[in-house]
Amino acid sequence: MNTILTNERGVERVVAGQATQDGAGVKLTRVLTSDLQHRLDPFLMLDAFGTDNPGDYIGGFPDHPHRGFETVTYMIAGRMRHRDSAGHEGLLTNGGVQWMTAGRGVIHSEMPEQEDGRMEGFQLWLNLAAQDKMQPAGYRDIPSTEIPELRLKDATVRVIAGTSQGLAGAMHRERTEPLLLDIHLDAGASFHQPLPAEHNAFVYVYRGSVTIAGRQIDSQRMAILANTPGSDGLVLRAGEAPARALLVAGRPLREPIAQYGPFVMNTREQLMQAVQDFQSGKLAA
Ligand code: FE2
Repeated sequence: MNTILTNERGVERVVAGQATQDGAGVKLTRVLTSDLQHRLDPFLMLDAFGTDNPGDYIGGFPDHPHRGFETVTYMIAGRMRHRDSAGHEGLLTNGGVQWMTAGRGVIHSEMPEQEDGRMEGFQLWLNLAAQDKMQPAGYRDIPSTEIPELRLKDATVRVIAGTSQGLAGAMHRERTEPLLLDIHLDAGASFHQPLPAEHNAFVYVYRGSVTIAGRQIDSQRMAILANTPGSDGLVLRAGEAPARALLVAGRPLREPIAQYGPFVMNTREQLMQAVQDFQSGKLAA
C-alpha cells in the first residue's frame, strides 16, 4: 500500500554530473561533486559507472587510503574484489552492496574480477559526524539476497538503508538516518516515500525517465529535491517505459567539511594529520 502524501517535494535543480577518471583509469561520472557537499550533507559524493568496454574499468582501484566517512558501493552488474588493511576481503557481485566504514583509517583496493562483460554500479560517500570520524574501521558485505525488497503491484523497491513502507533495510545509521532505495517502476507506475522536510534528498535516474512534481527527469540525471518546509515526501512516477532510480536521503550533520582527496574531516589540521599518519604508516595501524 502506498502512503498518501499531501505536499510532495519539488525539484530544486537537475544535475548531469561530470565525466572523470579515478583509481587506475576507471571511467565514471561524478554525479554528486564536491561543490554539492554542503547542499546534500551528509552525502559527500556519488559516482556512477556503467560500461561494456573492459578498457574503461580493468585498471580498478589499487591500494588507496580513506579516513573520516563511509563508502557504500552498489553493484548492478559485474564483479569487484575488495581487500583492505584490516584483513577484510569480499567479492561484490550483481545487486550486492559493500558498506565500508573508513573511520580512523583504512587502506583498500577495489579491483574488477572479470576481463570482459558489463560493469555497472555506484559508489556513494556518507559522511561521519565529528565524534565518529576516528572510530575503528568496519566493513560489511551485503549480498543481493540479504537486501529486503518491497514487492508492490507495479514496482519493486530494494531497501538498502533506512525504512520504506514499514520494511527495514539492510543498514541503519542513527545519526544521519540514511535512506538508500533502488526503485524499479513498471511503465506508468508511481511510488510514494515519506521524507522529513529537513532531510536532504536526491534521486538519480539510471533507466528510463521519471516525473517528480511535474518535472521530467531523464536517465543519467540527478534531481536535487527541494527542502520546502511542510513538505512530506517524494512521489516518483515512471514515464511510458519502465524506469529505475536511486533515492538517497539523510539528516544533515551541519558540521564543517574539510576534504583532501580520500580524507574527509572537519578541519585543515585534521587533514594534515591524516596525510602524516598515512605517510608514516599509522593511518590504518
Ligand atoms: Fe576506496
